[in-house]
Amino acid sequence: MTERNSRLTGFSTLSRTERLEVLKTWLPEGGQGTETLNDTGSLAPDLVERMVENAIGVMPVPMGIATNMIVDGEDVLIPMATEESSVIAAVCNSAKRCRSTGGFRTSYAGSLTIAQVQILDVADPHRARLEILRRIGDIRDICDRVDPMLVDLGGGLRDVEVRLLDGRLSSMVVVHLIVDTRDAMGANAVNTMAERIAPVLAEWTGGRSLLRILSNLADRRLTRAEAIWPANEIGGPAVVDTMLEAADFAVIDPYRAATHNKGIMNGVSAVVLATGNDTRAIEAGAHAFAAQSGHYGPLTRWEKTATGDLVGSIEIPLSLGIVGGATRIHPVAQLALGIMRAESAERLSRIVAAVGLAQNFGAIRALATDGIQKGHMALHAQNIAIAAGAEGDEVQHVADGMKTRGEINARMAEILLAEIRA
Ligand code: MEV
Repeated sequence: MTERNSRLTGFSTLSRTERLEVLKTWLPEGGQGTETLNDTGSLAPDLVERMVENAIGVMPVPMGIATNMIVDGEDVLIPMATEESSVIAAVCNSAKRCRSTGGFRTSYAGSLTIAQVQILDVADPHRARLEILRRIGDIRDICDRVDPMLVDLGGGLRDVEVRLLDGRLSSMVVVHLIVDTRDAMGANAVNTMAERIAPVLAEWTGGRSLLRILSNLADRRLTRAEAIWPANEIGGPAVVDTMLEAADFAVIDPYRAATHNKGIMNGVSAVVLATGNDTRAIEAGAHAFAAQSGHYGPLTRWEKTATGDLVGSIEIPLSLGIVGGATRIHPVAQLALGIMRAESAERLSRIVAAVGLAQNFGAIRALATDGIQKGHMALHAQNIAIAAGAEGDEVQHVADGMKTRGEINARMAEILLAEIRA
């Protein structure tokens, strides 16, 4: 047997078809299956090639629509891309239950993106700090020259902060460029600014610049949403009380908070992905923000109104864009923005925050009442049926059979499938 070697010299210069031929030798059982990569769906093959290195195809993820949402007084349909079966259903259900109180009200702190420049070997950091702050006009001139279009659109450098940090190896001066990136996520603009200004800062401070990169802890791009769920829409006062007890768990315990926030990100990341935005940036920012006080906590808070209804709120950093990157070139992302009529990064952020809150409501309500598996497995049953080999009409029959018998698992799917086929 020839030993496989991942040092594939020249792989990137091959055509996609040639790359697939190479992959066949890596697949077990005679290299079957690569033909599934021939269909690149709504992404044209040459776009796939241009988007990533060594492209072989696409990984399609289902996209669905969250209905029933009202965000800031406007009804909105929200495309969500996710592989998790119960996510979209939960948002539809949660949104329906707060329509009578007007849905979700949001606020947006703005589109300020932070880039960091790390400067080492500064002999007199306090003087250096003041020197940098004194020359903020020069910094603005240099940074704003990086992207004149952004400045024309009302963006550009807004502020500079200087932090003196003690590292384990040495102390450092950390400069934050605070840039209004408007409708862009802004990574390219602020990273270029940071690279352009770094040697200048090093010269002024007599130090040595090292890292020049945006921060994903986007705490200048906070978006907030709140909604009231009338007690009678969600099962009565007892359900309100148990949901509050469930939510309280996440406030005090990071183990629970991680799962609570994961549920929020089920919704947030699904909209972020549907719009071609950077899911990892949003996830990193959300979790870092959740730990900003030094204690990792929930991104949402739950309370009871004076009249006994349930009120939820979310505060989450959202670095989202509607221009640039995959958002601009991906036809599905463009369509997704169109469907939800997100004509600015601000509107998109407000919608995403509302979805995060709706998702969290759905999870807490399910967990505090029936448990999550009832709804989840009912939807997941079809996936299990497909995994067991069911095709066409068989899928629904197997899924229904598993639900009727109250046993939704692979073994039961196989038994039912065998019965149907017999
Ligand atoms: C599952 O994807 C998400 C939940 O675990 C969220 C939560 O526990 O709050 C249900």
